[in-house]
Amino acid sequence: GAETLAVLNIGKNLIEGSDCRSCHQIDKTSIGPSYVAVAERYTKSDNNISYLTDKILNGGSGVWGDHGMSAHPELSESDARRMVDYILSINEVKPTVSPLAIKGNIRPEVPEGEDGQGSFLLRAFYADKGAGQITSLAGEDFVALRNPFLDPQSAEIRKGVNLMTTPSINFFMEGDQSHIGFKSLDLTAVKEINLFVNVNPRNGAVGGFVEARLGSPDGELIGQSQKMEPLNQGFRRPPAGVNFIQWRRENTPQARIEIKETGGFQDIFFIFRNPDAGQEKILMSIIEIQFSNEASGL
Ligand code: HEC
Repeated sequence: GAETLAVLNIGKNLIEGSDCRSCHQIDKTSIGPSYVAVAERYTKSDNNISYLTDKILNGGSGVWGDHGMSAHPELSESDARRMVDYILSINEVKPTVSPLAIKGNIRPEVPEGEDGQGSFLLRAFYADKGAGQITSLAGEDFVALRNPFLDPQSAEIRKGVNLMTTPSINFFMEGDQSHIGFKSLDLTAVKEINLFVNVNPRNGAVGGFVEARLGSPDGELIGQSQKMEPLNQGFRRPPAGVNFIQWRRENTPQARIEIKETGGFQDIFFIFRNPDAGQEKILMSIIEIQFSNEASGL
C-alpha cells in the first residue's frame, strides 16, 4: 500500500541522487546490469538483501561480467538497504495509489462498477525521508466516511418498529410517537434529511409526519416533515436493465425534513407522528434515510 510506496520512493530518490545512474539503467544493460535484471536474479530474502547492500557499500565484480562496481563508502548502510528494497521491488505490481499533496481536498468518487452502497475509508499516511542517522518516521490515520444513505435497520434505538420479511423487508413504524435513533452521526453541513417511505393502504398504513430531534426522543426539535398521505402504488417493478436502487429512489415518496443548522456528531431521533393513529396502527414503512447537504426547499 501507500507506506510501501513511500518507503520505496525513498530508495528511488537515493538512487537518483547518487552516482548509480552513470552505470545503471532501469531496464537496459549499461556498464552494470539493469535493475530489472537484478530483481529477476535475486528473491527478496534477508540473505540477498544483506548481500546486495554489502555489494553496494563495498563494490565488487565477477557476477555479471568483466566490469566492476565501485565502492560507496559515503553511503550509510540503511540508505544502501533502501536502494536494495527499491531495486528488488522494481518488477512488482504497483499498488493503484498515487501520493497526494500534503494539504488539499479530496472528493471521493464511487468507482466505476460499484453500486454506491458502500462507504469510504480515508487513510492518510505520511513517511518522511529521515535525516542522516535518523530513520524515516511515519504516521497514519483513518477516517470512515459513512454513506449518505442509511438503512433504517442500522438504527441503534427503536420503539414501535415492526420488521417484516415478506419476502422483501418491510420496516414498519407502528403507533404515534414510534421512533428510531442513530448514535453519533456527523451532521456537519447536513441541510435536509429525506426519509424514503411508503404509506401503503394495503398494509393498513395511515401515514403521518416525521420529526427530527437531537439527543433523545423528546430532545430538541430540529425539523419536521410534511404529512405523508396513504398512496396505493400497486405492484411495480423496475424495467429491465435499470439499476434497482436508483429506480427505487426515484419512485418512492420522500418525507423531507429541512433541519436547522446543526453541526458536529449528534444522536439523532426520528419520531413518527399521527395523533389519530393510536398505538397499533402502522404509520408508514421506511426504506432508506438520506442525509443531504442541499435543501430542496419543498
Ligand atoms: C562505476 C559503475 C557503477 C556504479 C557507479 C554503480 N554500479 Fe552497481 N554495478 C556495476 C557493475 C559493473 C555491476 C556488476 C558487478 C558484478 O558483476 O559483480 C554492478 C552491480 C550492481 C548490483 C548487483 C550486484 C550483484 O552482485 O549482483 C546492484 C544491486 C547495484 N550494482 C546497485 C548499484 C547502486 C544502487 C549504485 C549507486 C549507489 C551502483 N550500483 C553504482 C557498476 C556500477
